[in-house]
Amino acid sequence: MRVAIVGATGAVGQEFLDLLAERNFPISELKLYASPRSAGKEITFNGTTHTVIATPEDGNLDVDIAFISAGGALSKAEAWKWAEHGAIVIDNSSAWRMDERVPLVIPEVNGDDALEHNGVIANPNCSTIIALMALAPLHRAFGLTRATVATYQAVSGAGAAGISELADQSAAYLQDANSELAVDKFQHPIAFNLFSHDSDIGEDGYNVEESKLVNETRKMLHDDSLLLSATCIRVPVFRAHSEAIHVEFERAVTVDEVNAVLAEAEGVSIIDDRAGNTFPMPITSSGQDDVFVGRVREDSSKPGSIAFFVSGDQIRKGAALNAVQIGEYLVAKNAVKEAVSA
Ligand code: A2P
Repeated sequence: MRVAIVGATGAVGQEFLDLLAERNFPISELKLYASPRSAGKEITFNGTTHTVIATPEDGNLDVDIAFISAGGALSKAEAWKWAEHGAIVIDNSSAWRMDERVPLVIPEVNGDDALEHNGVIANPNCSTIIALMALAPLHRAFGLTRATVATYQAVSGAGAAGISELADQSAAYLQDANSELAVDKFQHPIAFNLFSHDSDIGEDGYNVEESKLVNETRKMLHDDSLLLSATCIRVPVFRAHSEAIHVEFERAVTVDEVNAVLAEAEGVSIIDDRAGNTFPMPITSSGQDDVFVGRVREDSSKPGSIAFFVSGDQIRKGAALNAVQIGEYLVAKNAVKEAVSA
C-alpha cells in the first residue's frame, strides 16, 4: 500500500508511525504530511529518513490509504477531496463521524461497517472506543439497555500541547505552590486539579465529549434506543483514559456471567484483584494495546445490573491503533486497491 500520515508530527501521528512499523503494515511508499511549519523536518521510519511535506492544497495525497490526525478543521475541509483523489481516508477527527455516508468503526465491534465506506471512514472518539471495547461484547451477550459512564481523561487527549501544559504547570507548582500557573491549551490549571471536559457545553447541559460518547455508541451498536448518559472529566494524568461504567441489560446478569464474556473478548484484559486492591490504572494501561477491565461487581442500586471500571491507552486503542486496525481490516478483506507500480 502507498500510505500517508497527515499530522505526522503530532502526538497521534508519532503513534501511527510506531504502530505501522511494529505491526509490519504492508507499506510500499510512505508520505508524511503536516502543516507548512513542519515542511522539511526529517522523521526516521524503519531506518529510512523521510522528509515531512506540507499537506498539498490540491487534495491529492497520492496514496492508497491515509491516516489522518491533524485536527477537525482540516478534515472537515479536505477529507472528501483526499478521497476523490483515490485515498481511503481513515480520519481520527470528529468531523465526519456522524455523517450517514461515513462508517464509524471499531474493528472488534463493527468491522464489517468499514466495508461500506464511500472513501472516508471515521475513527471514533477515544472515550467511546475504550467504553465500547467492554460494552460491545456484553451487549452481544446480554442486550444492553442502559449505561451511565463517568470518565477520567488524560491530557494527551488534547494533543502534544496538553502534555506539555501538565508538565510545565506541575514543575512550576512544585517550585512554588503560590506561582500563577500559565494556562494555554486548557482554560483552567490541570496540574493538581481536575475539571469538566474542555469541550463546549450544549443547550442540554452536556458537553460535546459526552454527546459524542452517546451518539457514537448508538451508531456503532446500531441501536438508537439505547439509554446512555456520560460525565466527562479531564484529570492530571499524562496518558490513558479511565471510565466508571454502570450498565443494565435486557435481563438480570451476574458478575460471573460478565467476567466470562470479558475473559473471551478480543482486545480486553481483566485486572480484578480484590484481595490486593489492584484494578485497571492509567499507569499500567499506558502503552498497551488492550483495554483493561476490573472492579466488576453488581450495581448495588439495582439487582441484576453491573458496575465496572476500564482503563485504556487513548492514543493507542483510543486513536492510532484503532485506525491502523481499520486499515488492517480493509487489507485483510482485500478492500484496498493494490498500489499501481509505475
Ligand atoms: P505541525 O506540527 O506542522 O503543526 P497534535 O494533535 O499533537 O497537536 O498534532 C497536530 C498535528 O496536525 C501536527 O502534525 C500538525 O502539524 C498537524 N496540523 C495542524 N494543522 C495542520 C494543517 N493545516 N495542515 C496539515 N497539518 C496540520
